[in-house]
Amino acid sequence: MSVDEILRRREPLIYLVTLEESRAEGDIRRYCEGQQPPLPLYRWSCTRGMEKLQGGVMEPVRIPDHGDARSQAPLVPVLHYIVRDCTDDGVFLLKDVHHFLRGGTSSFNPAMALTTRALRDTFYELRELGKARKIVLLAPELVVPPDLEKEVRIQDYCLPTKDELTVTVRGMLRRAQVIKQKDATFKLEAECTDGFVNALVDAAVGLTQLEVEYVLENMLYVQRRLPGDAPRRMVREKQQIIRKSQVLEFIPAEDLDGIEVGGLESMLRWLQLRKHVFENREKARDEYGIKDVPRGVLLAGISGCGKSLVCKKIAHEWGCPLLRLDVGAIFDKWVGSSEDRIRNALRVAESVAPCILWVDEIEKGFAGGPGGDGGTSSRVLGTFLVWMQEKKAPVFVAATANDISVLPPELLRSGRFDNRFFVGCPGERSRRDIFTIHLRAHKLNPASFQLQTLIQMTVGFTGAEIEQTVVDSTFDAFYENRRATMEDLVRNVRRCRPLVRSLLPQMEKVLEMLDNGRMELASDDTVPVQQLLGKLDVKTNS
Ligand SMILES: Nc1ncnc2c1ncn2[C@@H]1O[C@H](COP(=O)(O)OP(=O)(O)OP(=O)(O)O)[C@@H](O)[C@H]1O
Ligand SMILES: [Mg+2]
Repeated sequence: MSVDEILRRREPLIYLVTLEESRAEGDIRRYCEGQQPPLPLYRWSCTRGMEKLQGGVMEPVRIPDHGDARSQAPLVPVLHYIVRDCTDDGVFLLKDVHHFLRGGTSSFNPAMALTTRALRDTFYELRELGKARKIVLLAPELVVPPDLEKEVRIQDYCLPTKDELTVTVRGMLRRAQVIKQKDATFKLEAECTDGFVNALVDAAVGLTQLEVEYVLENMLYVQRRLPGDAPRRMVREKQQIIRKSQVLEFIPAEDLDGIEVGGLESMLRWLQLRKHVFENREKARDEYGIKDVPRGVLLAGISGCGKSLVCKKIAHEWGCPLLRLDVGAIFDKWVGSSEDRIRNALRVAESVAPCILWVDEIEKGFAGGPGGDGGTSSRVLGTFLVWMQEKKAPVFVAATANDISVLPPELLRSGRFDNRFFVGCPGERSRRDIFTIHLRAHKLNPASFQLQTLIQMTVGFTGAEIEQTVVDSTFDAFYENRRATMEDLVRNVRRCRPLVRSLLPQMEKVLEMLDNGRMELASDDTVPVQQLLGKLDVKTNS
């Protein structure tokens, strides 16, 4: 939502979460100046105290009797001033508030208690007095104590739109041309056509204004060149910057070349149909009445059977960047920041859309479990579920889980993911495909191996285990300066202890979900769980 839309609403207390303080402030200032008559704008920070915009500059405002920014709860007199003493119905931009709302480690924190109470009182007093003042709390992270949740309207400040980025990019390109005129050694290698600008803007989507400027300034002033492949470099930078968020990893589609998946054809066919809608979403909506862009898929199953592989394949085939969300990393030790991190991650995903959001090992974060974390994991899950339900941007969620038995039922309910697949141990045909893929990848000719024998020896093997036998055989052979042979493979297959044995106790739940239709098999060619139970002679709990 833009600042204009946010400020036009009636709420008196708005918490605006953004890492781009100065851009947000600029937008608020433009909004105030653009009103008829212009709205008075005040600003407070813990170093500068209260200021008011007058004649284009910020002038200090003395708050009577109080106003010591170094006191424990400096906002208390500031809020009192806004409600009682100030005569302007304007916008009051308060920075640094999150520091005074954090609970800290002790059970009672006076700064937080006073600031929270002052904010609540302010909300109700403004309403009672009918004063049309707006207080915007501007902070890089979301810290709202539960007793303020009803009064404060939380808003995410959007990342720059393509139009805004175009202005930035064009401005930078003009600067590059000026530099070139003054300095002949500057290498202006790119042709600044519309196509180039568009490519650069597309590459910049998902970054903040400052980050985009930083990348371009680095080229212009440090490297002293504007290379023809600047968009590509921008994507690389984006990869680094998004990684710094510690929660998301950005994997460009072109990094995913050459991924081959053996088996899993039912799921791949299902995905193919979704891809068609995803790519042609306007036509699907306008001509066929398909309202929902495909939302996402949950892949659950045995470790090493290709869940992560399929997520990468989706991104590659759909030609979209892949954003990997590290669910474990969301749960940071600072209270409040887990929610920030998920909101931030989802916002980045939306701004990079169309993209695939790969939520790897979803059960690690959302399983909750005993011990209690103050409800953080359920709040984070709640944020994620609401977003899944309401998102309009074409972000396809591919979530993977090893153990579905610990996943909260809300996540599995229909209406969240478009489908849920069980990725089990590959059957005969699939094992043949997987052997073939990995033998070829190791420059071996599958025709020189008795695949049928290998297939029969590997019931209950995962794709990863099959790959490992090929890798081990290649290592053995390389050491002796020769090519791997059938004997190497047989030996390594015999040495392998399939993981599936240790997972069998979880399989009861899978059977139940397959039975009652809450999950589908990713391939008809899957070793039946019952067969694994019998074949490997391991008893489950039941
Ligand atoms: N169906 C398959 N076809 C080809 N290769 C496969 C297949 N399944 C697994 N592999 C190989 O095993 C490796 C590991 O698989 P992958 O990481 O996708 O498993 P996973 O199901 O995500 O496991 P985990 O649950 O442990 O994350 C892959 O990189 C690939 O080389
Ligand atoms: Mg995986």
